[in-house]
Amino acid sequence: MEVPDKFNEGVTSWETVIFLYNSALKEVGTKVEILNDEFRHIHKYNPIEYVKSRIKSPESIVKKLKRHGYESTIDNMVKHINDIAGIRVVCSFTSDIYRLAEMIGRQNDLTVVSIKDYIKNPKDSGYKSYHMLVTVPIFLTDGVVDTKVEIQIRTIAMDFWASLEHKIYYKFEGNAPEYISRDLQECAGIVSMLDAKMLSLNEAIIQAKEQQRV
Ligand code: GTP
Ligand code: MG
Repeated sequence: MEVPDKFNEGVTSWETVIFLYNSALKEVGTKVEILNDEFRHIHKYNPIEYVKSRIKSPESIVKKLKRHGYESTIDNMVKHINDIAGIRVVCSFTSDIYRLAEMIGRQNDLTVVSIKDYIKNPKDSGYKSYHMLVTVPIFLTDGVVDTKVEIQIRTIAMDFWASLEHKIYYKFEGNAPEYISRDLQECAGIVSMLDAKMLSLNEAIIQAKEQQRV
């Protein structure tokens, strides 16, 4: 990753910071993978469809700092930007989201800083997802650094909507006509219906199987 000119504190500290975020992302990624393996082991069921992770690009970091009125310094970036390291966990059913969030919250070596439940309280755009801001301790030779990671947990349907909505909005650079926003909200409603239907279908199947066993 190239160091943006504006971060004038020097290459070493930029590289150190990015190293920390990369390590934190690996830690959280492994934790999520282990939770999925354990769940599969106990319940013979895979709650996670796929996981994506990324480090925010230097350009996006500069843009976000500017948007919030902060100078581009490493200090400001570490203090004010919570999603430099981001991991997206895509689940099968809505119920898996809360199950996973609870399992993540129970991990002793991870601190939950804040939670935003955009499933119970969707955004005006129609966006739905469960966000957790956590910190993980990264052990270095000369000390421990608590490093922030944003975890987004959502269903495949929510992920489908968010990905396409982001693509469509990007094309309009934030100035989408009214009808586009309205149609996207409508699509979000359809996506929620789909999630609810799939969940009740799955529950019906589980119940039918249990009855077969007795
Ligand atoms: P950002 O500055 O966008 O990071 O927002 P924030 O710091 O106020 O946090 P928030 O929890 O609102 O959103 C964080 C992330 O959620 C974003 O970076 C997106 O990945 C995702 N997100 C939030 N709102 C929307 C939305 O309306 N559409 C899509 N596609 N994604 C969204
Ligand atoms: Mg963001």
